[in-house]
Amino acid sequence: MSKFYITTPLYYVNDEPHIGHAYTTILADVISRIKRIQNQDVFFLTGTDEHGQKVQEAANKKGVSPKDHVDKYVKRFQKTWEKLNISHDYFIRTTDKEHTDRVLEILSSLYKKGDIYFDEYEGLYSVSEERFITEKERDEGNFREIKKIKEKNYFFKMSKYKQELIDYIKNNENFILPHSRRNEILGFLNKNLNDLCISRPKARLSWGIEMPFDSDYVTYVWFDALISYISAIGYNKDKEKFNHYWPADFHLMAKDILTTHCVYWPTMLMACNIKLPTTIFAHGWWLMDDTKMSKSLGNVVKPLDLVDEYGADALRYYLMRNMVLGQDASFTLDSFIKRYNADLANDYGNLINRIFILINKNFDNKIPVNGKNDSIDQNFIKNIIKYQQLAIKNYNSMKIHDGIESSISVFRLTNKFLEDKAPWKTIKSDRDIASTTLYLSSEALRIGTILLYPVIPEKATIVLNAMKCSPKDNTLFGGLKEGITIDIVKNIFPRIVD
Ligand code: MSP
Repeated sequence: MSKFYITTPLYYVNDEPHIGHAYTTILADVISRIKRIQNQDVFFLTGTDEHGQKVQEAANKKGVSPKDHVDKYVKRFQKTWEKLNISHDYFIRTTDKEHTDRVLEILSSLYKKGDIYFDEYEGLYSVSEERFITEKERDEGNFREIKKIKEKNYFFKMSKYKQELIDYIKNNENFILPHSRRNEILGFLNKNLNDLCISRPKARLSWGIEMPFDSDYVTYVWFDALISYISAIGYNKDKEKFNHYWPADFHLMAKDILTTHCVYWPTMLMACNIKLPTTIFAHGWWLMDDTKMSKSLGNVVKPLDLVDEYGADALRYYLMRNMVLGQDASFTLDSFIKRYNADLANDYGNLINRIFILINKNFDNKIPVNGKNDSIDQNFIKNIIKYQQLAIKNYNSMKIHDGIESSISVFRLTNKFLEDKAPWKTIKSDRDIASTTLYLSSEALRIGTILLYPVIPEKATIVLNAMKCSPKDNTLFGGLKEGITIDIVKNIFPRIVD
């Protein structure tokens, strides 16, 4: 059994989760479920980034201690993931002792090795991004709340690993995906790469992991949080587990945190003599009215509001179907309702109703017998298999939206097949023909449902349970057993009246 280790970013707990956080987490969940039904040994990590300035400021604003603040807000993330049926194997908090101990060990060993040094630095600092920036970065206009700061701090010798990193990126084509992002990082590395400031004086920021060699300083939040990808799977603690799951197969995130993952993190790993992750994948942003949805801009959609109204699967489906991986997408309630009604209520929901009602009325709730297949039947089977293979191919090449479209095509084709064959008519003239039509349609429904299971696990499980099947069953066409008694389910996706 091959292993598959996938991570989401660890989200800041300065506020509640929004659709952007939900998107990355659902995407990681969908990929995990795809891999699990392909019998891979999946380890899916998510969690929260709880130290640093953003969190300290949020706590100050609310007049509570940072620890009380994070303990309260982490629950909102956990509750949201539960409601969205996120199947993570581990939820890490950067305030966990298991994690902070690993950070301290790494800092001590890099300090001993000479890869961390103390120095005075004067430069531009972006409060919103919590890092020193170059003048060029300031001029590009992507950073906010910029101040000039002169400070003594600890630095990680990032520049020492620059050439090794460039060579690694060039030699490993799928290290940074999509490829446009890889070029961006190579462009960034072509310029002068500074060492990384990895401490904050307590006088300015106290909420962080205290530096093991200087109690006047805490660790820079990124240096702390990135380490969670290895501390979560037992680095320096559980050798067997760590060697089994590391390197990560997929670090998933949006393009906003590409540099930290593609430059800071690999050089940190190189300094520690740890292998680099296999793939760092950056998707696009969910936009509201052409602007990035973000907590600081106050234009966020809260996932729980939609889940409470329309169900988790409806939201999961929309987010996965409406974003082309790598590109930005616009969130509107109108497009959400349209997508739901067209695909889930119409193509899928109606098909379920039709098949189950016909079997209930005419076949005593039993999967009918597959009799003689005429040329229309044979053609139908051929096309279903074609779309099934296409869906799997798309899923495996990270074209999730295309994989979904191919799965929905299975249902569209089946609806058309039912129209052509009209079993509600043939049942009166030739019961064997109606029986065959309904067997083939039920089988296509089972196959399409298994294909959509990673995206809509709750509703797909209801349908599969009713058919006494599971997503891990034989997915070859014809795997559905004749004669089994099914439960009748109806109205899985009721139409939204807008
Ligand atoms: N704490 C850091 C990550 C540390 S990882 C070791 C952080 N946290 S964050 O709360 O700001 O989360 C950023 C991530 O949330 C993005 O990379 C993306 O995965 C997700 N998204 C936040 N807003 C988003 C959109 N508007 N659209 C899509 N994804 C977004 O950065």
